[in-house]
Amino acid sequence: MDFSNRQVFVTEDGSSSLRLREADEQYHSFHGACQESLHIYIQNGLQYRNDGSDIAILECGFGTGLNAALTFQYAGSRNISYDAVEAYPLTLEEVKTLNYASAVKDFHTETHLRMHLAVNQSIVPLSSSFLFKKTIEKLENISFESESYDVVYYDMFNPDLQPELWTESIFEKIFQTMRPGGILVTYCAKGRVKRALKSVGFDVESLPGPAGKREITRAHKPSAISN
Ligand SMILES: C[S@@+](CC[C@H](N)C(=O)[O-])C[C@H]1O[C@@H](n2cnc3c(N)ncnc32)[C@H](O)[C@@H]1O
Repeated sequence: MDFSNRQVFVTEDGSSSLRLREADEQYHSFHGACQESLHIYIQNGLQYRNDGSDIAILECGFGTGLNAALTFQYAGSRNISYDAVEAYPLTLEEVKTLNYASAVKDFHTETHLRMHLAVNQSIVPLSSSFLFKKTIEKLENISFESESYDVVYYDMFNPDLQPELWTESIFEKIFQTMRPGGILVTYCAKGRVKRALKSVGFDVESLPGPAGKREITRAHKPSAISN
């Protein structure tokens, strides 16, 4: 499978996404890239603990950078450190064909571009309160420090296409790198994924999905781990 062989298309809310040419798979819902990202990752992830505290976010599957740019847009006055992982980054030509500047209200086009231009593993201060880092590597190959993240956006391709990214061993690694009380949000609501999350220690809840999707999943790392 060539994950870099892809084309841009426009979803139903008018915002761009990408689809893989060799598989029936796209980066966002046909029903709207922006509305999906706002519902799942911003409202149910970033804004879940809206107490103004500093927050460390890990995004698995940076892709178009839409989740990251919307996080910047909705960050408010919080200090945010945002680490994104991506194995198959977009080319600059692909980035320039995305229409977020016109399709997404108040979109931070310049910041979005700077995210894509960020050098692998360099920490880029995008504002005085937003630090961005992108790691260009397969998620499977990355070793994370323990208890580093409050929120994980788990936005990998679906488990039928990439089952290796939805296993107990991957979720164990993610669980370890999350701080107690942290949350993982994902569009995926498959039973086997929820069972894998539970088996490594997460408390798992199903939430209403965005337009066109019945449910999404939020997994909580317990604040106190009982032995
Ligand atoms: C569903 S898309 C992500 C959409 C993205 N969050 C956005 O806002 O555009 C999944 C992403 O995971 C990336 N990916 C696929 N396999 C990967 C792997 N093994 N490790 C890290 N990233 C991978 C793909 O290149 C793609 O960008």
